[in-house]
Amino acid sequence: MEQFASSLQCAPLSMRAFRLPMVMRTSSRSLEYRLAMKLASLMNPVSFDRMLLRPACVIVIGMACLPPSCSLSAAGEGEQSETIRTDLDDRLSRLEAAAERDRREQAQRRGAVLFARSCAACHGRQGRGDGPGSMDLSPRPRNFAAGQFRFRTTPTGALPRLEDLERTIRRGLPGSGMPAFDDLFSSGEIADLSAYLYSLAPPEWREAPLPEPVRVPAAVPPGAEIVSEGRSIFLLLECWTCHGLNGSGRGPSAGSLRDEAGLPIRPTDFRHAPLKGGRRPEDVMRALLTGLNGTPMPSYGEAMLFAREELGSASSFAGRLPDAALKEIDAFIPSCPTREQIDGMDETQRNHLRDHRLEALADYVLSFDRRKGFWYWLFRERPENEPRLP
Ligand code: HEC
Ligand code: HEC
Repeated sequence: MEQFASSLQCAPLSMRAFRLPMVMRTSSRSLEYRLAMKLASLMNPVSFDRMLLRPACVIVIGMACLPPSCSLSAAGEGEQSETIRTDLDDRLSRLEAAAERDRREQAQRRGAVLFARSCAACHGRQGRGDGPGSMDLSPRPRNFAAGQFRFRTTPTGALPRLEDLERTIRRGLPGSGMPAFDDLFSSGEIADLSAYLYSLAPPEWREAPLPEPVRVPAAVPPGAEIVSEGRSIFLLLECWTCHGLNGSGRGPSAGSLRDEAGLPIRPTDFRHAPLKGGRRPEDVMRALLTGLNGTPMPSYGEAMLFAREELGSASSFAGRLPDAALKEIDAFIPSCPTREQIDGMDETQRNHLRDHRLEALADYVLSFDRRKGFWYWLFRERPENEPRLP
């Protein structure tokens, strides 16, 4: 009994009030004993008294008040005991769900207080991106009610995972108005804030289960050959129409781009601007696989499996690209597999092709970096866009 009370970690008196000792009459291996142990693990000893008021506790009391005829012993279970066992399992899973909901609601309430204090100035009281500090910022602070998150590990259109939000809050989005809060909040507080952000998303999004993260290939050390392959892909997939042939973010379509709120948005300048999602090859590959929801930057997961005949020829780019670029395209196209060859590949070979092309493109994007060296130091264009993180 004493052993059990200590493992419950809450006042034995309260236990008696629930007639739990009745449950413990049976041997330590009985189903009730295991059930009670499970309940104990769900109870936070500090908030036990508060939990009395919560629906989870109604179930606890209901279970403790089971008539003695429901009591089971480990030995000799018949058909009836099997039914009772299923019933108890059912109650246990409902109890677990209620306890989980309870924990989430508490985290959201704590997160709401932190949000009002530290985020509402930019993101607005209701998280709609319309706080008093939002007007001068470009891009504007995110409207959380729209459910459009850019820096995720989930596929296009989905909400981010908890770790994605935590990463953004911790590291900020360098090059934008979104500060890094790593030094200001504990990891518990960052988790509470992230839980609160979910509660602001549109209800139909909140209820859908979160998809698994996309699979990002492990980076390999870059070499000259893979970077030049990346350049050909950059030309063929027309990244340059937005990001520019020199990576300056001033391609022919750049001037007309709009974000989800209809406000102008600039493609990233790969030479000088910090990358908001991170500067490792894995980060760039992730941005390419997920796309950036709410911006014109699409996802390139499937596009990476392009076949030779789908690329057209260098002549289709004539007049839009300089001659040297057309020559590079001409040399690259014959090295691509045909549609028939790609369709004949198994899953592993297809993944290998996609990973290789992603890696090549990421290495090429990163090769534009001009943020180091004497000339950049002397003539840097926008010191306010310096990265805050390595
Ligand atoms: C000084 C203004 C400012 C403050 C304060 C601020 N933010 Fe932001 N936040 C921004 C801006 C601007 C953006 C959009 C940046 C972009 O799109 O590049 C943003 C974007 C975000 C995003 C979107 C990430 C994505 O994947 O799209 C999250 C999440 C976020 N902020 C959370 C928070 C939280 C939580 C707080 C408070 C702890 C906070 N922000 C405080 C300005 C701010
Ligand atoms: C239709 C225009 C458009 C095209 C085409 C496009 N992008 Fe983008 N891209 C954007 C915009 C706009 C942003 C900036 C989003 C922001 O700042 O929130 C961006 C951002 C990025 C980022 C930065 C992500 C970060 O972490 O900050 C990378 C990397 C990127 N693009 C790579 C590519 C590559 C590689 C291609 C071609 C396969 C490509 N883009 C094609 C518009 C485009």
